[in-house]
Amino acid sequence: MPRFSRRSFLHLSAAATAAASFRFMSEPMLAAASRRKPHSPDAVMIDSNENPLGPSQSARDAMASILPQGGRYSDNLTDDLVQTFAQMEGLDPEYVTATVGSTPPLALSVLAFTSPQKTYVTADPGFELGMMTAENNGARVVKVPLTKAHAHDVKAMLAAAPDAGVFYICNPNNPTGTLTPRSDIEYLIANKPADSVVLIDEAYIHFTEAAPPSLDLVKSGKDVVVLRTFSKVYGMAGIRCGLLIARPDLAKRVLQRGGFNFMPITGVVAATASLRDTSLVAERRHINTTIRQQTFQWLDRNGFTYIPSESNCFMVDVKRPGQEVRDAMGKENVMIGRIWPIMPTWVRITVGTQQEMAKFQTAFGKVMKA
Ligand SMILES: Cc1ncc(COP(=O)(O)O)c(C=O)c1O
Repeated sequence: MPRFSRRSFLHLSAAATAAASFRFMSEPMLAAASRRKPHSPDAVMIDSNENPLGPSQSARDAMASILPQGGRYSDNLTDDLVQTFAQMEGLDPEYVTATVGSTPPLALSVLAFTSPQKTYVTADPGFELGMMTAENNGARVVKVPLTKAHAHDVKAMLAAAPDAGVFYICNPNNPTGTLTPRSDIEYLIANKPADSVVLIDEAYIHFTEAAPPSLDLVKSGKDVVVLRTFSKVYGMAGIRCGLLIARPDLAKRVLQRGGFNFMPITGVVAATASLRDTSLVAERRHINTTIRQQTFQWLDRNGFTYIPSESNCFMVDVKRPGQEVRDAMGKENVMIGRIWPIMPTWVRITVGTQQEMAKFQTAFGKVMKA
């Protein structure tokens, strides 16, 4: 009898496979690529939307106790994660697949549903990974500016690409941290071309209570693929675990693009422990919101313009080329950014710890006076 379940074969290959073939870049690579110089070990790193708190105590304990079993594939642990999430969300486990973070399923979804004939439609500014993957796949990429309220402009997205294969909705959006209302997402689903999918990236969903639900759209059989990650609120970016939630026929098309692999058992048990830690998300949301709002109050007091965010990152208008401010902040040992071409005078800031944001304020105040 094989020791692994049928589900094992649906697991994704590591990001490296796709990165090697298609040269796409995800958040840490994009952040590092746009840093001009290597940073010092004591630098304040608020340029990659990481969680400085790291994994929860329950996740750390789970990883420590599983280490002796690291010589085995232990696919049953991945099944536990899938069952736990499915049960918590009232989903059929067949709709849930564990992934090595959300980078691989994002890229693979774009590969599966775009082509030279099937366009990739995204917000501008928006997270770049899908755009790069679509370009590498020979697909047309259509970038549609956010509305004045910084939501995805779903009507403009629909109008821009009757040949769409993927409508990418990042909610809350990276880099703005802003939300797109449920009614807009429903409108998009109801009016999209029949053979396209709506790819809803919920990497930052846990940072806000205002975000509209979307898993029920999967449950009710819509052409929707939802991505979750343990990299953000759960602080597991370096541990790697994510979830792909979609109708099995759509998930199959995505996963077929990536080959098969097993999940790292550390990531899987840490993710399961994090889900079972019922107070964790609320605690961390509270910490992030408190520090973000304190930072906004400081920006208000000092007359800086920013976009109010619901997430762990936000955009500030520096009213000069953003890269100049990034470079100057780098000299102060505070790594911020990056910059999106559509907003050349704005820089993205990740919400760090209270101490890190105090250092940010000192450096930013100095740089902006210069
Ligand atoms: C919007 C969005 N989606 C997906 C990812 C991929 O993250 P990971 O692969 O760590 O889950 C990121 C990373 O920052 C992101 O910002």
